[in-house]
Amino acid sequence: MRILVVGSGGREHALCWAISGSPLCDKLYCAPGNAGIAAVAERVPVGAEDIPGLVDFARGQKIDFVVVGPEAPLVAGLADRLEEAGIKTFGPSAAAARLEGSKGFVKDLCARLDIPTARYRRFTDAAAARAYVREQGAPIVIKADGLAAGKGVVVATTVEEALAAVDERMVARKFGEAGADLVIEEFLAGEEASLLALVDGEHVLPLPSAQDHKRVGDGDTGPNTGGMGAYSPAPVVTPEVERIAMERIFKPTVAAMKAAGTPFKGVLYAGVIVDKGRPKLIEFNVRFGDPECQALLVRLKSDLLPALIATRDGELADFDLRWHDEASLCVVMAAKGYPGDYAKNTEIKGLDRAAAVEGAVVFHAGTAEKGGRILATGGRVLGVTARGKTVEEARARAYRAVDLIDWPEGFCRRDIAWRAVK
Ligand code: AMP
Ligand code: GLY
Repeated sequence: MRILVVGSGGREHALCWAISGSPLCDKLYCAPGNAGIAAVAERVPVGAEDIPGLVDFARGQKIDFVVVGPEAPLVAGLADRLEEAGIKTFGPSAAAARLEGSKGFVKDLCARLDIPTARYRRFTDAAAARAYVREQGAPIVIKADGLAAGKGVVVATTVEEALAAVDERMVARKFGEAGADLVIEEFLAGEEASLLALVDGEHVLPLPSAQDHKRVGDGDTGPNTGGMGAYSPAPVVTPEVERIAMERIFKPTVAAMKAAGTPFKGVLYAGVIVDKGRPKLIEFNVRFGDPECQALLVRLKSDLLPALIATRDGELADFDLRWHDEASLCVVMAAKGYPGDYAKNTEIKGLDRAAAVEGAVVFHAGTAEKGGRILATGGRVLGVTARGKTVEEARARAYRAVDLIDWPEGFCRRDIAWRAVK
């Protein structure tokens, strides 16, 4: 088969790494990819959000199957346009991608289906939103309705901060149209976890649990990021948490999307907060998490590609995936300054030494190659991932590999998986 992966981050490197090993894969392209992806796929100079460009490429190159990594092209209808052109695609339609693209849509769905989640109200009027914040008090959570590259959410610890967040979104329109509609919700205390499942429109095939570290600093301090590291499995996700998530979150959502004529196909990622052994939904994503994907895929024993195809084809009913019993862990290396401003085009050395550590794989996120040198071009730059018999062993291996990387302009958290290690 001729396969195209869309995207350029660590998640897409992990997807390409897994797919390139499939006996079903004859030729693998990645648009636009990164320097690490170039080792396993042919890069295509078409952006992940250039929908006409991607459809033209897939048609012209007779691509059999497209795997879409990021959410923005899905919300914009990439899967719809590819399928209309006769190209099978892993990833939901735009209508189904509203599960990530509109927080208001999800909150209304939760209310209708009695899905456990934070209490909320929706607003299109700034004065009403301010009045609600004053009435509820802090802590309180302010969310722009639409996609805002992970920056639309403020967990406000004071009323002043919450009011400023309302004004930034609704009045100053810091996130454009995404802020026209606001969700204001109750603050949930507890421990976060990432629950992912393949969904073929009807059936749900859960993947092992994972936990991400969203804050930039050790001990979960500082501003939110796209994710500074992840590990799998996450002990907070007990069998009971898994059961409740399946019965109360995944199954009702998938059934409702099907009944509405907008079946969800792809990977559905429920970000939950677990409190007293019970999960509540914080958000859905309609794609693999990054860096959860890196941690999960190094644990996968089965061939990923048939699973993605079965998801697209509605054939997950009897599908089974096999996983290594071992744990895994991914440490994100980012450019100093991230998630704020950071220097670009700094050189990274020692990648081969790092990759030679037992059980380790170095996934690239924001990298480019120039005259044989690897340069950092993004905020999140590498995902140093390892498997081990225990999470402690996976962690030791991942940090051993990190320490072999020579990149003075980079940094990472040193405490990934702190909740899981003794
Ligand atoms: P989201 O973009 O919805 O995932 O929100 C970003 C982050 O904000 C989440 O990963 C949580 O850490 C935090 N968050 C969102 N909603 C809530 C909530 N209701 N209570 C506590 N924390 C939240
Ligand atoms: N790691 C969080 C996300 O992918 O949204």
